[in-house]
Amino acid sequence: MRTIELWDKSVILIDQTKLPQKLRFIRCENAEEVARAIERMQVRGAPVLAAAAAMALAVTALRSRARKKGQLLRELRRAAELVRRTRPTAVNLSVGLKRALEAAQGAPDVERASEAVVKEARRIAEEDVKVNKKMGENGAKLLRNGDVVLTHCNAGALATVDYGTALGVVRSAWRKGKRIKVIATETRPLLQGARLTAWELKRDGIPTTVVVDSAVGHLMARGEVTKVLVGADRIAANGDAANKIGTYTIAVLAKEHRVPFYVVAPTSSVDLDTPTGKTISIEYRAPREVEFIQGKRILPKGVKVLNPAFDVTPARLITSIVTERGVVKPDKLKSLFKS
Ligand code: MRU
Repeated sequence: MRTIELWDKSVILIDQTKLPQKLRFIRCENAEEVARAIERMQVRGAPVLAAAAAMALAVTALRSRARKKGQLLRELRRAAELVRRTRPTAVNLSVGLKRALEAAQGAPDVERASEAVVKEARRIAEEDVKVNKKMGENGAKLLRNGDVVLTHCNAGALATVDYGTALGVVRSAWRKGKRIKVIATETRPLLQGARLTAWELKRDGIPTTVVVDSAVGHLMARGEVTKVLVGADRIAANGDAANKIGTYTIAVLAKEHRVPFYVVAPTSSVDLDTPTGKTISIEYRAPREVEFIQGKRILPKGVKVLNPAFDVTPARLITSIVTERGVVKPDKLKSLFKS
């Protein structure tokens, strides 16, 4: 079962807002519907957003009536702008759009431009799964029998096309027979840890305990966490990494308690055009995500809310970055891009 698929001129995706109560799929027939699904967090997580973005352009091409390549390109650019506006922090979304648009531009005529977009969207999805398995292999070497791995948000199969980044490492280690346990933070406000990470790991039979976000310091002080593994939405050239709000707090605590802190992300999440984390655009989401939990109001009406969705962990707090090309110290990140 994949998180997202291109099927019958549509994008089919798991509706992550319904998990863990229901495993439901939704069908998006055009780029507007894909953009809406991204905004509503029905599909979320940086790597899968690359596939979702490219697939939004693929369905645009598959349903287009354009007879000239120029007209198709205009339709694709319009669709790309719609999708681009949905979420600013994950670099993967714009990488997916760029790859699909460039595939169309490079084709000689309208038919082949349309085929090229579809092919590129499928290629992005296939690559994602392969890259995750490779990161899993690379990262599994860092884990030992008895490790208790703390993870934040959901960097699993649901945040990717399949297998996951941080949870891909957990899966690979588990499949190699390493006896590890996972602590998943709840991850307020949208509870990706409690709802999605716990759901995924339970299905795989990997021992998992959910804690509230504010329990991390207490557990680390008692020596109950041996490693931290998180994903990333964008890694700047100097190794600063943006990830779900709360990641920075965990990194500071990990440093204080000498717990190794690993970021697991594909090289496509590295944005060499962004020199440091200071210029990463941080998404602020609607106050209602904090005001309500699963439809129930928990704040008094009229109280102000701030809802930053991501924060930046400075490179100095990161032990290593695990990628499909190898495991590096943050200050050696650029060495992965030298041919
Ligand atoms: O707001 P979300 O749920 O899209 O945030 C997701 C995260 O922060 C993940 O940790 C990140 O995208 C890496 S997923 C492999």
